[in-house]
Amino acid sequence: MKKIQIKDKTFETYLTEVQLEQRIQELGAQITADFEGEELVLLGVLNGSFLFVADLVRAIPLSIACEFIKISSYSGMESSGKVTEVIGIPSSLAGKNVVIVEDIVDTGKSMAFLLQKLTAFHPKRVAIATLLFKKEAFTFNYPLDYVGFEIPNKFVVGFGLDYDGLGRNYPEIYQLSIP
Ligand code: IMP
Ligand code: MG
Repeated sequence: MKKIQIKDKTFETYLTEVQLEQRIQELGAQITADFEGEELVLLGVLNGSFLFVADLVRAIPLSIACEFIKISSYSGMESSGKVTEVIGIPSSLAGKNVVIVEDIVDTGKSMAFLLQKLTAFHPKRVAIATLLFKKEAFTFNYPLDYVGFEIPNKFVVGFGLDYDGLGRNYPEIYQLSIP
């Protein structure tokens, strides 16, 4: 098992590059089948989703649009629960099928806030793709259409996810080590 150190925390391998790649291919195939012949916008949530989006769009062999937004809401090890704002929602979503692409849904607050903000842009349909889902922490009941992995309620980093801004670059996902 590989271990990495970020600041004061030690993390160990949880999901390998191969596991991530295989699962993202499957999600891409599902999205392709569900939206073939339709107009689709993949809407990545920065910063955490950048690697997931990069792999997911390449697993969807359709002529789709790819846009990014940013939600400022999070710092340190715990979800602050204070979503401040959504930056950069493109006006081109009106009448389109939109798949929001997130790195992780934890309590679900950020996504709930984004879903509510998107309604003002009148998309045809909104679906959610999240690489990781902390089911035990989820406090909402909107559907998650495409889930990569359901994971326990433990802090993870890598493949886009950060600890205090660091560690997004690792090609695999690491879980906090219990000392
Ligand atoms: P939520 O609003 O509680 O669902 O939190 C969602 C956001 O919190 C995600 O987009 C991440 O930025 C961050 N987050 C939640 N859990 C983790 C984690 O285990 N590692 C890194 N970031 C996390
Ligand atoms: Mg995020």
